[in-house]
Amino acid sequence: MNTYELETGDTSDKEIFDRIRELVYKRSGIKLDTSKESLIRARVGKRMRALGLSNHAEYLKQVIESNDENEIVHLLDAISTNVTSFFRDSDHFNLLRILLKEWTASGQRRFRIWSSACSSGEEPYSIAMTVLDSIGGNFDTKILATDISTRVLDKAQMGIYEAEKTYQIPEDFIEKYFDKINNLNSVSYKVKPVLRNMIVFKRLNLSETPFPMQGPMDVIFCRNVMIYFDQNTRRRLINEIFRLLKPNGYLFVGHAESLIGLTNGFRTIKPSVYLKES
Ligand SMILES: C[S@@+](CC[C@H](N)C(=O)[O-])C[C@H]1O[C@@H](n2cnc3c(N)ncnc32)[C@H](O)[C@@H]1O
Repeated sequence: MNTYELETGDTSDKEIFDRIRELVYKRSGIKLDTSKESLIRARVGKRMRALGLSNHAEYLKQVIESNDENEIVHLLDAISTNVTSFFRDSDHFNLLRILLKEWTASGQRRFRIWSSACSSGEEPYSIAMTVLDSIGGNFDTKILATDISTRVLDKAQMGIYEAEKTYQIPEDFIEKYFDKINNLNSVSYKVKPVLRNMIVFKRLNLSETPFPMQGPMDVIFCRNVMIYFDQNTRRRLINEIFRLLKPNGYLFVGHAESLIGLTNGFRTIKPSVYLKES
């Protein structure tokens, strides 16, 4: 039997992966092209083993036919790419620092910032450190951090990072905002409550618009997630972001992303930074 023949019954391998791709797209907006088949196979394989299933057709049946939300969450967890780092694209954090200082100087006391695809938490914790270091903790500041993946949200909420993940964090921030944990053979760092308490973590699917929040937000980080969406999903997402931002609020996207064709009402400040015009 060659790899393109039947795994079980009468559903071909190709058909199974097309249906998994279709399901992922419908439930997350993530567009997986056919070149991702081996990635899906490897990642889904792990979950299949946990469920005691031996082939993809059975797995598909379980996910689709049971319509079990929990299994869908596991599938999306397995598929999504969660690469992130502290202070990734540091120019965004430098600009955030400038904006916060300007806004406080003009009398603003309440700040709402949304990290919309927060992965394992490095982005919202970097935002929190930037806030504390630029304007301090005496303002009404809240950071909302959301992601579709419960796996990364659990890690984010725990706030424990291996030492090698913390190299981009300035030394004095490590001292101020983290507790060192000496493990048997390694060192890790746990975020202190002063950072943790600034952030509310929630599961949110960016492809399911409209979102339940009201806004207005001062700054929205929507970085390195739109690349996985098609233009239609991106458009709906950007419209929601526009609704939730305050006039003169800022949107940061990933450096490989752009709002070309989607920018109604946004002014480009520089690549990857957009202002909602008032
Ligand atoms: C590459 S990471 C980017 C993390 C961070 N924003 C950064 O730039 O470092 C992409 C994140 O988007 C999340 N994601 C993918 N599809 C999503 C969706 N439909 N709704 C919400 N989050 C999604 C993934 O779970 C993953 O954590």
